[in-house]
Amino acid sequence: MSTTHDPAAPRLHLAAFLNAGPQGTAGWRHPDAGDGFLTAAHYTHIARVLEDAGFDLAFVPDSLAVPRSLGGSYAPAVTWGTGTPRLDPVPVITLMAAATRHLGVAATVSTGYQEPFHVARGMATLDHLLDGRAGWNVVTSFQDAEAQNFGQDRLLERQARYARAEEFLEVTARLWDSWGDEAIVGDKESGVFGRPEAVEALDHRGEHFAVRGPLSVPRPPQGYPVIIQAGASPAGRDFAARWADVVFCSHESLESAVAFYADVKARAAARGRDPDQLKILPAATTVVGTDLRDALAKHEAFTELVHPEAGLSRLAYHVDVDLTRYDLDGPLPALDEVGVEGHYREVVEFAAREKLSVREIGRWYGARTEGNMIGSASDIADTMELWLDSGAADGFMIQASHVPTAFDEFAAHVVPELRRRGLVRTDYAGATLRENLGLARPERGEWRNRAASTATAPAGERP
Ligand SMILES: Cc1cc2nc3c(=O)[nH]c(=O)nc-3n(C[C@H](O)[C@H](O)[C@H](O)COP(=O)(O)O)c2cc1C
Repeated sequence: MSTTHDPAAPRLHLAAFLNAGPQGTAGWRHPDAGDGFLTAAHYTHIARVLEDAGFDLAFVPDSLAVPRSLGGSYAPAVTWGTGTPRLDPVPVITLMAAATRHLGVAATVSTGYQEPFHVARGMATLDHLLDGRAGWNVVTSFQDAEAQNFGQDRLLERQARYARAEEFLEVTARLWDSWGDEAIVGDKESGVFGRPEAVEALDHRGEHFAVRGPLSVPRPPQGYPVIIQAGASPAGRDFAARWADVVFCSHESLESAVAFYADVKARAAARGRDPDQLKILPAATTVVGTDLRDALAKHEAFTELVHPEAGLSRLAYHVDVDLTRYDLDGPLPALDEVGVEGHYREVVEFAAREKLSVREIGRWYGARTEGNMIGSASDIADTMELWLDSGAADGFMIQASHVPTAFDEFAAHVVPELRRRGLVRTDYAGATLRENLGLARPERGEWRNRAASTATAPAGERP
């Protein structure tokens, strides 16, 4: 057990997973759940609670459609509140950052349906306005319903999605690098605003994008905003090992978490990166009680809120497969092309262990909150410490079964115990999200070390 406390480099990093909408299929109907998810006050309250508790960052997931996975209709998703509604994450995190001074904030933005210039510009703007507290959760999207909102009949296949994402990241990073850190002079005396020799065009012509550049926003304070990724397939892990500063994941057991952690860190090392510069944060949904019995009773009451069809709707949404095609009382057949590979792996592991039918999996999945940690504050701290010491985590992405109360309870009960053990900061030492996460600021040109192609870039066009 660790007994020292270094506020500059806490051993356990904390991120919060917060929907910009109702929290989960059953979470919104919890008696203590607030219904303010369309109001600013809801998000600013949570941001302040997280900052007081020393969280590194709050992260908002996203999807660009009302899910249509169950029976091909959006009706089940609307009926049960499955992955819908969702506010645009960028204004939500901007509000949260404006209400705090240190908390990092990250928005999910897909590489599937915008141009890199849009995202590079938006993220650079955010990072400037938030004094280096911005993060980007890079997703490739996983539902046909999303593709259908952008002129496509079907989602691209996984390899094609990652190929596009790869070029997207390379162009985005080059756009951030198109301004040198010293490009703005602002010399009122001479009237010289900036140094054109420190600003470089890209002249990128690739398979998916043609971008001349330079960007219209100077290099972000963090160099690159913190890049987050949650892919679990081999292609997703490789992508994360190259580009991500933070990896989110969820696991059905400590063993699979240890294997994933070792695999992703090894992939990063194979790319010549310092594995410690990539932080892996598995999901943890904490249910805290006065003791284990009390916490289990709370969890049981939560489980009672789940309608089995709501659970099936959630599972169909995550794997993006219409489960009504299968015998609901038979086992889950092997699925070839699934939406979120990480969630599918957990389902397969659990269903095989418990020998469940599709219908039973649905019931379990609806109540399931990722990475359940149930018990007293001290039980939960013990589990977190075990995961840290076992090489399964650099911290956790805390998911709340219901909001804002479960975050309030985590902050009030679990965080003091983690601080007592010297695992969580009592104050913020860093000025930026990168510094608080213990991550180096990328030098200009870092994209060359990250990009899958090792080809050197052609010299940029000068003005
Ligand atoms: C914990 C976690 C959170 C995720 N959040 C999102 C999200 O907000 N939006 C999204 O489109 N995909 C999300 N995903 C999906 C992944 O980012 C990834 O795009 C998807 O799993 C497909 O890649 P893969 O096949 O490599 O896993 C999440 C996945 C996990 C495991």
